[in-house]
Amino acid sequence: MALHFPSVLLLISCLLCFCITLSQAQQPSFRPKALVLPVSKDPSTLQYLAHINQRTPQIPVKLTLDLGGRFLWIDCEQNYASSSYTPSRCESSQCNRANSKICTTECFRSSPKPGCYNNTCGLLLENTFTQTGTSGDLGHDLVSIQSTDGSKLGKIVKVPNFLFTCGATFLLDGLAKGVKGMAGLGRTILSLPSQFSAAFSFPRKFAICLSDSGKGVVFFGDGPYVMLPNVEISKSLIYTPLIINKVSTASAAFAGEPSSDYFIGVNSIKINNKIVPLNTTLLKINKEGFGGTKISTVQPYTVLETSIHKAVIATFAKELSGVPRVAGVGPFELCYNSVGIGSTRVGPAVPQIDLVLQSSNVYWRIFGANSMVQVKSGVLCLGFVDGGVNSRTAIVIGGHQVEDNLLQFDLAASRLGLSSSLLSRQTTCANFNFTSTA
Ligand SMILES: *[C@@H]1O[C@H](CO)[C@@H](O)[C@H](O)[C@H]1NC(C)=O
Ligand SMILES: *[C@@H]1O[C@H](CO)[C@@H](O)[C@H](O)[C@H]1NC(C)=O
Ligand SMILES: *[C@@H]1O[C@H](CO)[C@@H](O)[C@H](O)[C@H]1NC(C)=O
Repeated sequence: MALHFPSVLLLISCLLCFCITLSQAQQPSFRPKALVLPVSKDPSTLQYLAHINQRTPQIPVKLTLDLGGRFLWIDCEQNYASSSYTPSRCESSQCNRANSKICTTECFRSSPKPGCYNNTCGLLLENTFTQTGTSGDLGHDLVSIQSTDGSKLGKIVKVPNFLFTCGATFLLDGLAKGVKGMAGLGRTILSLPSQFSAAFSFPRKFAICLSDSGKGVVFFGDGPYVMLPNVEISKSLIYTPLIINKVSTASAAFAGEPSSDYFIGVNSIKINNKIVPLNTTLLKINKEGFGGTKISTVQPYTVLETSIHKAVIATFAKELSGVPRVAGVGPFELCYNSVGIGSTRVGPAVPQIDLVLQSSNVYWRIFGANSMVQVKSGVLCLGFVDGGVNSRTAIVIGGHQVEDNLLQFDLAASRLGLSSSLLSRQTTCANFNFTSTA
């Protein structure tokens, strides 16, 4: 018996259907190995800025990068419109994951909007630049970001449920023009690196490579990290343990919350290989969470506790005594007439400063490009500032000292990888190939 024409058609269309389903199933959805975020420096605030694409419809949101920041927070009071925003309901798994201790049962407003929903959990958030804090609602929205193979841009990928906290407009005071919040890369489960690693199941690693005038970069995920002209940086790092400070360094925190900042163990400081005499008790984190060394992108220059600052300046001045000094230019104390200072590939020819880490042969070497700041024509100053007596953290390594160095944070292994100055390898942090083929 011959098949009826309609049945044949049905059979063919079914086969076709089956084939399409099969081919879709066989084509794995794209899973990135790493992501990349361009970072620029704002010349007036010296903040490092990045854009992420968020919401539906999607818009670019300008943010200040905060290496030690706990999570992403964004001003939701002004112009937050998105059909994909979802508040985190009190006691939901998201609130538990975020370790929220705040529940807003009622938001006094006739209709809900991001940042003002009934029955929403919240977190304490902070503008770490001005150290102003408040609480805000937790929620999630769509975020998209560019993937990379480590050397060039790849496809744009989406994270549908990226958790963040809704901040208030007043919290933006002190941030660069046009900024809508802060992007926290800190040591928490909600930070950008943690959420991206979880979303795409790639290693819990990220790297920052900041630039003074060009386009720096944050890589989420493991290397390769390649800078033009084809310099692979991830294979030649020196490593030091990341140390946990059990006491929060935020201006406001829930009880028992550890610090989200990245601390490393500096055991001594050498200048031209000479030990700087200092009170090493300050270099250890004490029970109250004071002391120790952390890295910050919110401090433009390294901040040293007063006695350490004094000792560093005295030793540096002694080692560079052949060059005529000029009056200090705030916030710097030690300044020179730059005519007396030669130049090298790694910046002004001045004594190198070594932050000695877990053993005497492991150190973070700071060359002239990172130690000296040109404050005006003809004047170079040592770019370290006085943090006051009894400061919370004895050494805060700031932006100028990390520029053109790649720093890889390996959260799983709790260690920091340091590239040292990329200038010595004839590249810079502004040399990632952001050229898109599209
Ligand atoms: C919160 O609930 C109250 C009482 O049910 C209601 O009057 C109010 O409109 C709600 N607010 C929001 C923002 O949903
Ligand atoms: C070193 O610093 C610690 C912590 O601030 C302080 O208690 C101690 O007195 C200091 N020691 C000296 C010799 O100044
Ligand atoms: C940069 O990447 C693009 C592709 O994204 C490529 O076409 C171009 O050749 C690269 N440039 C260099 C200098 O390698």
